[in-house]
Amino acid sequence: MKAKWKTQYPALIDLERKAKGRMPHFSWEFLDSGTGRDEAAKRNKDAFRDVSLTPRFMRGEFTPSIETNLFGINYAAPFGIAPVGMNSLSWPGTDEILARTAGRVRIPYSMSTAANATPETLGQLANGMGWFQLYPPRNNNMRTDLLARAKDAGFTTLLITVDVPAISRRERQMRAGIGGGFGLTPSMVWQSMMRPAWSLATLAKGKPGLPTLERYQPADDLREFLAFVGSELNGTFDWNYLDEIRAEWEGPIVLKGVLDPHEASEAVAHGVDGILVSTHGGRQMDGAPASITALPAIRDAVGDDTRVLLDSGVRTGLDVARALALGADFVLLGRPFMYAVAALGEAGAEHAVEILSEDLKNNMSNLGCATLDELRERVT
Ligand code: FNR
Repeated sequence: MKAKWKTQYPALIDLERKAKGRMPHFSWEFLDSGTGRDEAAKRNKDAFRDVSLTPRFMRGEFTPSIETNLFGINYAAPFGIAPVGMNSLSWPGTDEILARTAGRVRIPYSMSTAANATPETLGQLANGMGWFQLYPPRNNNMRTDLLARAKDAGFTTLLITVDVPAISRRERQMRAGIGGGFGLTPSMVWQSMMRPAWSLATLAKGKPGLPTLERYQPADDLREFLAFVGSELNGTFDWNYLDEIRAEWEGPIVLKGVLDPHEASEAVAHGVDGILVSTHGGRQMDGAPASITALPAIRDAVGDDTRVLLDSGVRTGLDVARALALGADFVLLGRPFMYAVAALGEAGAEHAVEILSEDLKNNMSNLGCATLDELRERVT
Protein backbone atom coordinates (compact mmCIF):
# COMPACT_ATOMS: atom_id res chain seq x y z
CA MET A 1 0.00 0.00 0.00
CA LYS A 2 1.18 3.50 -0.79
CA ALA A 3 2.18 5.41 2.36
CA LYS A 4 -0.49 7.95 3.28
CA TRP A 5 1.70 11.00 2.88
CA LYS A 6 2.53 10.10 -0.71
CA THR A 7 -1.03 10.79 -1.76
CA GLN A 8 -1.61 13.50 0.83
CA TYR A 9 1.42 15.51 -0.27
CA PRO A 10 1.93 14.70 -3.97
CA ALA A 11 4.03 17.81 -4.73
CA LEU A 12 6.84 19.78 -3.09
CA ILE A 13 4.49 22.73 -2.73
CA ASP A 14 2.32 20.61 -0.41
CA LEU A 15 5.32 19.88 1.80
CA GLU A 16 6.11 23.60 1.81
CA ARG A 17 2.61 24.43 3.06
CA LYS A 18 2.75 21.72 5.69
CA ALA A 19 6.17 22.97 6.88
CA LYS A 20 4.87 26.51 7.26
CA GLY A 21 2.18 25.18 9.61
CA ARG A 22 4.73 23.30 11.73
CA MET A 23 7.48 25.93 12.08
CA PRO A 24 7.40 28.99 14.37
CA HIS A 25 7.09 32.25 12.45
CA PHE A 26 10.71 33.37 13.03
CA SER A 27 12.20 30.08 11.81
CA TRP A 28 9.91 30.16 8.77
CA GLU A 29 11.07 33.70 8.00
CA PHE A 30 14.72 32.67 8.45
CA LEU A 31 14.34 29.86 5.92
CA ASP A 32 11.91 31.31 3.43
CA SER A 33 13.14 34.89 3.11
CA GLY A 34 15.31 36.33 0.37
CA THR A 35 16.76 39.77 0.87
CA GLY A 36 15.44 43.31 0.38
CA ARG A 37 11.97 42.99 -1.11
CA ASP A 38 12.46 39.32 -2.04
CA GLU A 39 12.58 40.23 -5.74
CA ALA A 40 15.59 38.03 -6.58
CA ALA A 41 14.06 35.06 -4.74
CA LYS A 42 10.86 35.48 -6.74
CA ARG A 43 12.72 36.14 -10.01
CA ASN A 44 14.60 32.84 -9.60
CA LYS A 45 11.36 30.89 -9.49
CA ASP A 46 9.46 32.92 -12.10
CA ALA A 47 12.26 32.67 -14.67
CA PHE A 48 11.91 28.88 -14.79
CA ARG A 49 8.33 29.27 -16.00
CA ASP A 50 9.58 31.14 -19.06
CA VAL A 51 11.73 28.20 -20.19
CA SER A 52 9.70 26.02 -22.51
CA LEU A 53 10.90 22.72 -23.97
CA THR A 54 9.60 21.28 -27.23
CA PRO A 55 8.68 17.56 -27.20
CA ARG A 56 9.44 14.95 -29.89
CA PHE A 57 7.07 12.01 -29.99
CA MET A 58 7.95 9.39 -32.58
CA ARG A 59 10.66 7.34 -30.88
CA GLY A 60 8.71 4.29 -29.77
CA GLU A 61 9.01 2.75 -26.33
CA PHE A 62 11.80 3.77 -23.96
CA THR A 63 12.52 4.13 -20.24
CA PRO A 64 14.12 7.42 -19.21
CA SER A 65 17.29 7.10 -17.17
CA ILE A 66 18.16 9.83 -14.66
CA GLU A 67 21.31 8.34 -13.14
CA THR A 68 24.38 10.42 -13.75
CA ASN A 69 28.09 10.61 -13.02
CA LEU A 70 29.70 13.71 -11.61
CA PHE A 71 33.41 13.94 -10.80
CA GLY A 72 33.70 10.15 -11.06
CA ILE A 73 30.84 9.33 -8.67
CA ASN A 74 27.53 7.78 -9.73
CA TYR A 75 24.42 9.48 -8.40
CA ALA A 76 20.83 8.19 -8.59
CA ALA A 77 19.63 11.54 -9.99
CA PRO A 78 21.10 14.78 -11.37
CA PHE A 79 20.11 16.75 -8.26
CA GLY A 80 21.27 17.05 -4.68
CA ILE A 81 20.88 18.95 -1.43
CA ALA A 82 22.35 22.48 -1.25
CA PRO A 83 24.20 23.60 1.90
CA VAL A 84 21.82 25.34 4.31
CA GLY A 85 23.28 26.65 7.57
CA MET A 86 21.37 26.63 10.87
CA ASN A 87 18.80 24.27 9.42
CA SER A 88 17.89 22.90 12.85
CA LEU A 89 15.77 26.04 13.06
CA SER A 90 13.57 24.46 10.38
CA TRP A 91 13.43 21.16 12.22
CA PRO A 92 15.86 19.86 14.85
CA GLY A 93 18.34 17.34 13.45
CA THR A 94 17.73 18.28 9.80
CA ASP A 95 21.42 17.87 8.89
CA GLU A 96 21.54 14.32 10.24
CA ILE A 97 18.26 13.43 8.52
CA LEU A 98 19.41 14.79 5.16
CA ALA A 99 22.88 13.24 5.33
CA ARG A 100 21.38 9.84 6.17
CA THR A 101 18.75 10.13 3.42
CA ALA A 102 21.34 11.15 0.84
CA GLY A 103 23.55 8.20 1.79
CA ARG A 104 20.60 5.84 1.42
CA VAL A 105 19.16 7.13 -1.87
CA ARG A 106 22.55 8.10 -3.36
CA ILE A 107 22.25 11.80 -4.07
CA PRO A 108 24.71 14.42 -2.77
CA TYR A 109 24.21 16.07 0.61
CA SER A 110 26.12 19.35 1.02
CA MET A 111 27.16 20.20 4.53
CA SER A 112 27.37 23.92 5.36
CA THR A 113 30.24 25.43 7.35
CA ALA A 114 27.35 26.66 9.51
CA ALA A 115 25.78 23.21 9.93
CA ASN A 116 24.32 22.18 13.27
CA ALA A 117 26.43 19.02 13.43
CA THR A 118 30.12 18.26 12.80
CA PRO A 119 31.71 16.93 9.62
CA GLU A 120 32.81 13.89 11.64
CA THR A 121 29.16 12.97 12.32
CA LEU A 122 27.66 13.99 8.99
CA GLY A 123 30.39 12.54 6.76
CA GLN A 124 29.78 9.11 8.20
CA LEU A 125 26.00 9.37 7.81
CA ALA A 126 26.31 10.57 4.21
CA ASN A 127 28.17 7.39 3.33
CA GLY A 128 30.23 8.75 0.41
CA MET A 129 27.53 11.20 -0.74
CA GLY A 130 28.85 14.19 1.25
CA TRP A 131 30.04 17.47 -0.24
CA PHE A 132 31.59 20.07 2.06
CA GLN A 133 30.80 23.79 1.75
CA LEU A 134 33.43 26.26 2.86
CA TYR A 135 32.95 29.89 3.80
CA PRO A 136 36.51 31.14 3.41
CA PRO A 137 38.15 31.54 6.84
CA ARG A 138 40.66 34.37 7.25
CA ASN A 139 42.92 32.22 9.34
CA ASN A 140 44.93 29.76 7.22
CA ASN A 141 45.41 27.24 10.03
CA MET A 142 41.70 27.06 10.57
CA ARG A 143 41.13 26.62 6.85
CA THR A 144 43.70 23.83 6.61
CA ASP A 145 42.20 22.11 9.61
CA LEU A 146 38.63 22.36 8.26
CA LEU A 147 39.67 20.95 4.89
CA ALA A 148 41.54 18.07 6.55
CA ARG A 149 38.53 17.29 8.75
CA ALA A 150 36.22 17.29 5.71
CA LYS A 151 38.52 14.97 3.78
CA ASP A 152 39.03 12.60 6.73
CA ALA A 153 35.26 12.46 7.26
CA GLY A 154 34.75 11.27 3.67
CA PHE A 155 33.51 14.44 1.96
CA THR A 156 34.42 14.12 -1.71
CA THR A 157 33.68 17.51 -3.25
CA LEU A 158 34.42 21.01 -2.00
CA LEU A 159 31.95 23.83 -2.60
CA ILE A 160 33.55 27.23 -2.01
CA THR A 161 30.94 29.90 -1.49
CA VAL A 162 32.03 33.26 -2.86
CA ASP A 163 28.77 35.17 -2.96
CA VAL A 164 28.64 36.49 0.60
CA PRO A 165 31.14 39.38 0.60
CA ALA A 166 28.83 41.02 3.14
CA ILE A 167 25.92 39.55 5.08
CA SER A 168 22.92 40.99 3.29
CA ARG A 169 20.14 43.02 4.87
CA ARG A 170 17.43 40.45 5.45
CA GLU A 171 14.51 42.68 6.22
CA ARG A 172 11.95 39.93 6.72
CA GLN A 173 14.29 38.35 9.24
CA MET A 174 14.80 41.65 11.04
CA ARG A 175 11.05 42.12 11.23
CA ALA A 176 10.70 38.63 12.71
CA GLY A 177 13.18 39.58 15.43
CA ILE A 178 16.13 37.54 14.13
CA GLY A 179 19.59 39.08 14.05
CA GLY A 180 20.33 39.52 17.72
CA GLY A 181 22.71 36.54 17.74
CA PHE A 182 20.22 33.68 17.95
CA GLY A 183 19.14 34.80 21.42
CA LEU A 184 15.46 34.15 22.16
CA THR A 185 13.22 37.19 22.49
CA PRO A 186 9.85 36.95 24.30
CA SER A 187 8.13 37.12 20.93
CA MET A 188 10.16 34.14 19.65
CA VAL A 189 9.27 32.17 22.78
CA TRP A 190 5.59 32.95 22.18
CA GLN A 191 5.87 31.92 18.50
CA SER A 192 7.51 28.65 19.57
CA MET A 193 4.74 27.90 22.06
CA MET A 194 2.29 28.13 19.18
CA ARG A 195 4.16 25.24 17.53
CA PRO A 196 4.40 22.60 20.28
CA ALA A 197 5.70 19.72 18.12
CA TRP A 198 8.62 21.87 16.90
CA SER A 199 9.28 23.14 20.44
CA LEU A 200 9.29 19.69 22.02
CA ALA A 201 11.57 18.32 19.31
CA THR A 202 13.88 21.33 19.76
CA LEU A 203 13.98 20.92 23.54
CA ALA A 204 14.79 17.23 23.13
CA LYS A 205 17.61 17.90 20.67
CA GLY A 206 19.03 20.94 22.51
CA LYS A 207 19.69 24.47 21.31
CA PRO A 208 21.29 24.45 17.83
CA GLY A 209 24.88 25.66 17.69
CA LEU A 210 27.73 25.69 15.18
CA PRO A 211 29.71 22.70 16.47
CA THR A 212 32.10 22.56 13.50
CA LEU A 213 33.49 25.95 14.51
CA GLU A 214 33.50 25.47 18.27
CA ARG A 215 36.88 23.76 18.00
CA TYR A 216 38.38 27.14 17.03
CA GLN A 217 36.54 29.31 19.55
CA PRO A 218 34.54 28.07 22.56
CA ALA A 219 30.85 28.95 22.42
CA ASP A 220 30.33 29.42 26.19
CA ASP A 221 30.18 33.15 25.64
CA LEU A 222 27.72 33.33 22.74
CA ARG A 223 28.41 36.98 21.98
CA GLU A 224 32.15 36.39 21.70
CA PHE A 225 31.62 33.25 19.66
CA LEU A 226 29.36 34.99 17.14
CA ALA A 227 31.77 37.92 16.87
CA PHE A 228 34.51 35.38 16.08
CA VAL A 229 32.40 33.66 13.41
CA GLY A 230 31.43 37.03 11.89
CA SER A 231 35.01 38.28 11.61
CA GLU A 232 36.68 34.96 10.77
CA LEU A 233 34.30 33.89 8.00
CA ASN A 234 33.79 37.33 6.60
CA GLY A 235 33.51 36.24 3.02
CA THR A 236 36.25 38.29 1.35
CA PHE A 237 37.72 36.34 -1.50
CA ASP A 238 40.26 36.72 -4.30
CA TRP A 239 42.14 34.63 -6.88
CA ASN A 240 45.22 34.16 -4.66
CA TYR A 241 43.04 32.71 -1.96
CA LEU A 242 41.47 30.34 -4.48
CA ASP A 243 44.95 29.25 -5.64
CA GLU A 244 45.87 28.45 -2.03
CA ILE A 245 42.81 26.25 -1.57
CA ARG A 246 43.43 24.59 -4.93
CA ALA A 247 46.88 23.61 -3.69
CA GLU A 248 45.42 22.18 -0.47
CA TRP A 249 42.34 20.25 -1.69
CA GLU A 250 43.02 17.31 -3.97
CA GLY A 251 39.40 16.52 -4.86
CA PRO A 252 36.99 18.41 -7.10
CA ILE A 253 36.36 22.08 -6.32
CA VAL A 254 33.15 23.86 -7.28
CA LEU A 255 32.93 27.64 -6.97
CA LYS A 256 29.47 28.46 -5.61
CA GLY A 257 27.68 31.69 -6.39
CA VAL A 258 29.18 32.68 -9.74
CA LEU A 259 26.91 34.70 -12.03
CA ASP A 260 29.37 36.45 -14.36
CA PRO A 261 30.70 34.49 -17.38
CA HIS A 262 34.13 36.19 -17.26
CA GLU A 263 34.55 35.31 -13.62
CA ALA A 264 33.49 31.75 -14.44
CA SER A 265 36.18 31.31 -17.11
CA GLU A 266 38.80 32.95 -14.89
CA ALA A 267 37.89 30.46 -12.16
CA VAL A 268 38.43 27.59 -14.59
CA ALA A 269 41.85 29.03 -15.43
CA HIS A 270 42.59 28.89 -11.69
CA GLY A 271 41.84 25.18 -11.61
CA VAL A 272 38.28 24.76 -10.39
CA ASP A 273 36.42 21.70 -11.67
CA GLY A 274 32.94 23.14 -11.56
CA ILE A 275 30.96 26.35 -11.40
CA LEU A 276 27.77 26.54 -9.36
CA VAL A 277 25.56 29.23 -10.86
CA SER A 278 23.64 30.50 -7.85
CA THR A 279 22.12 33.59 -6.29
CA HIS A 280 22.22 32.01 -2.83
CA GLY A 281 18.48 31.48 -3.20
CA GLY A 282 18.01 35.23 -3.76
CA ARG A 283 19.35 35.95 -0.27
CA GLN A 284 22.30 38.21 -1.04
CA MET A 285 21.59 40.82 -3.74
CA ASP A 286 18.03 41.63 -4.63
CA GLY A 287 18.98 42.94 -8.07
CA ALA A 288 20.75 39.75 -9.15
CA PRO A 289 19.61 37.95 -12.30
CA ALA A 290 17.81 34.64 -11.93
CA SER A 291 20.27 31.72 -11.90
CA ILE A 292 18.49 30.06 -14.83
CA THR A 293 18.85 33.30 -16.83
CA ALA A 294 22.58 33.52 -16.06
CA LEU A 295 23.22 29.85 -16.87
CA PRO A 296 23.52 29.73 -20.71
CA ALA A 297 26.25 32.40 -20.93
CA ILE A 298 28.25 30.65 -18.23
CA ARG A 299 27.93 27.29 -19.98
CA ASP A 300 29.21 28.96 -23.19
CA ALA A 301 32.05 30.70 -21.37
CA VAL A 302 33.51 27.62 -19.66
CA GLY A 303 33.02 25.06 -22.44
CA ASP A 304 32.22 21.38 -22.12
CA ASP A 305 35.22 20.29 -20.05
CA THR A 306 33.96 22.09 -16.94
CA ARG A 307 30.98 20.91 -14.97
CA VAL A 308 28.26 23.52 -14.53
CA LEU A 309 25.84 23.26 -11.63
CA LEU A 310 22.87 25.45 -10.77
CA ASP A 311 20.74 26.26 -7.76
CA SER A 312 18.18 28.89 -6.68
CA GLY A 313 14.51 28.55 -7.44
CA VAL A 314 14.35 24.88 -8.53
CA ARG A 315 10.99 23.59 -7.33
CA THR A 316 9.99 20.69 -9.60
CA GLY A 317 11.43 17.84 -11.63
CA LEU A 318 10.51 19.90 -14.68
CA ASP A 319 12.72 22.72 -13.37
CA VAL A 320 15.58 20.20 -13.13
CA ALA A 321 14.93 19.24 -16.77
CA ARG A 322 14.89 22.92 -17.77
CA ALA A 323 18.23 23.58 -16.09
CA LEU A 324 19.82 20.56 -17.74
CA ALA A 325 18.34 21.59 -21.10
CA LEU A 326 19.96 25.03 -20.78
CA GLY A 327 23.38 23.56 -20.05
CA ALA A 328 23.62 22.49 -16.40
CA ASP A 329 25.13 19.10 -15.56
CA PHE A 330 23.66 19.01 -12.08
CA VAL A 331 21.21 20.92 -9.90
CA LEU A 332 20.95 21.59 -6.16
CA LEU A 333 17.90 22.51 -4.10
CA GLY A 334 18.03 24.25 -0.74
CA ARG A 335 14.69 25.24 0.78
CA PRO A 336 12.57 22.41 -0.72
CA PHE A 337 14.51 19.78 1.24
CA MET A 338 14.23 21.82 4.44
CA TYR A 339 10.46 22.18 3.93
CA ALA A 340 10.23 18.43 3.34
CA VAL A 341 11.99 17.58 6.61
CA ALA A 342 10.04 20.20 8.59
CA ALA A 343 6.82 18.74 7.15
CA LEU A 344 7.40 15.02 7.61
CA GLY A 345 10.85 14.38 9.08
CA GLU A 346 12.96 11.64 7.52
CA ALA A 347 10.06 10.32 5.44
CA GLY A 348 9.69 13.83 4.00
CA ALA A 349 13.27 13.98 2.77
CA GLU A 350 12.95 10.70 0.93
CA HIS A 351 9.51 11.64 -0.36
CA ALA A 352 10.95 14.87 -1.84
CA VAL A 353 13.60 12.86 -3.69
CA GLU A 354 10.91 10.55 -5.06
CA ILE A 355 8.68 13.43 -6.16
CA LEU A 356 11.55 15.11 -8.00
CA SER A 357 12.74 11.85 -9.59
CA GLU A 358 9.28 10.82 -10.77
CA ASP A 359 8.52 14.29 -12.09
CA LEU A 360 11.82 14.44 -13.96
CA LYS A 361 11.30 11.00 -15.50
CA ASN A 362 7.73 11.82 -16.42
CA ASN A 363 8.77 15.02 -18.17
CA MET A 364 11.55 13.18 -20.00
CA SER A 365 8.98 10.66 -21.23
CA ASN A 366 6.76 13.46 -22.42
CA LEU A 367 9.67 15.20 -24.13
CA GLY A 368 10.90 12.03 -25.83
CA CYS A 369 14.22 11.97 -23.94
CA ALA A 370 15.70 8.65 -22.83
CA THR A 371 18.87 10.26 -21.45
CA LEU A 372 19.63 13.48 -19.60
CA ASP A 373 21.95 14.59 -22.44
CA GLU A 374 19.04 14.60 -24.88
CA LEU A 375 17.33 17.35 -22.87
CA ARG A 376 19.67 19.86 -24.47
CA GLU A 377 18.03 19.15 -27.84
CA ARG A 378 14.60 20.14 -26.55
CA VAL A 379 15.24 23.84 -25.90
CA THR A 380 12.50 25.76 -27.72
C1 FNR B 1 21.39 29.05 2.40
N1 FNR B 1 22.44 28.95 1.49
C2 FNR B 1 23.71 28.70 1.95
N2 FNR B 1 24.74 28.58 1.07
C3 FNR B 1 25.98 28.29 1.51
O1 FNR B 1 26.88 28.17 0.68
N3 FNR B 1 26.23 28.12 2.84
C4 FNR B 1 25.26 28.25 3.78
O2 FNR B 1 25.50 28.09 4.97
C5 FNR B 1 23.96 28.59 3.33
N4 FNR B 1 22.96 28.79 4.22
C6 FNR B 1 21.67 28.99 3.78
C7 FNR B 1 20.64 29.10 4.72
C8 FNR B 1 19.32 29.24 4.28
C9 FNR B 1 18.22 29.31 5.30
C10 FNR B 1 19.05 29.25 2.90
C11 FNR B 1 17.62 29.34 2.39
C12 FNR B 1 20.06 29.17 1.98
C13 FNR B 1 22.17 28.98 0.04
C14 FNR B 1 21.87 27.58 -0.49
O3 FNR B 1 23.03 26.79 -0.49
C15 FNR B 1 21.35 27.62 -1.92
O4 FNR B 1 22.20 28.39 -2.73
C16 FNR B 1 19.92 28.17 -2.03
O5 FNR B 1 19.13 27.71 -0.94
C17 FNR B 1 19.30 27.71 -3.33
O6 FNR B 1 18.05 28.26 -3.51
P1 FNR B 1 16.67 27.49 -3.20
O7 FNR B 1 16.81 26.07 -3.72
O8 FNR B 1 16.51 27.54 -1.72
O9 FNR B 1 15.68 28.32 -3.94
